[in-house]
Amino acid sequence: MASNITWHSNLTHEERSKFRKQSGVTIWLTGLSASGKSTIACALEQTLLARGLNSYRLDGDNVRFGLNKDLGFSEEDRNENIRRISEVAKLFTDSCCVTLTSFISPYKKDRNFARDLHEKDNLPFVEVYVDVPIEVAEKRDPKGLYKKARTGEIKEFTGISAPYEAPEKPEIHLKNYEGNSAEESAQKIIDYLAEKKYI
Ligand code: PPS
Repeated sequence: MASNITWHSNLTHEERSKFRKQSGVTIWLTGLSASGKSTIACALEQTLLARGLNSYRLDGDNVRFGLNKDLGFSEEDRNENIRRISEVAKLFTDSCCVTLTSFISPYKKDRNFARDLHEKDNLPFVEVYVDVPIEVAEKRDPKGLYKKARTGEIKEFTGISAPYEAPEKPEIHLKNYEGNSAEESAQKIIDYLAEKKYI
């Protein structure tokens, strides 16, 4: 961290929330490539926006075109990717947004970092495990990446040549290989958010 910098006090989240119709929450989707994270996040975003709620989606591929275009897929770069996204998600949620993140986020310690960052500022954090067996993800292979990973054209590919540490106690566990639609999965998340009074 740089020296000679000073923290400027901001409104607290509670103070800010009083002026808004909604409080914020971060919905953290994690899962293998081709598990359906982005599709579910899109369906969820659509539904929330149609209800008049402010929602914004941060997506793995997209963020790597801009904010994180200097990062690759080594363990170190993935740690930094998730650290930056955690900070950005926290800011969005502090501004009372329903923030959706869809990143593989394969390491438990990185997801726990994201959670701790939110919880120490009393910002709600909901981890959603988009669970598909690797064989199912590999069969789907919508971008042809698993094929390239198998031939060695892509190195350090999650589930093939790099680890994925599945969440042990996610708030929501979606088994996204049982024929359920993205809309049905999005509805499960919405039901949870409503039950917890986050929306
Ligand atoms: S991570 O692990 O959270 O930092 O990854 P993320 O930022 O979500 O980026 C995942 C998307 O990048 C593409 N891609 C790869 N994924 C995994 N491993 C390797 N080596 C890799 N190279 C490129 C891939 O399109 C991922 O998108 P999704 O939507 O998950 O399929």
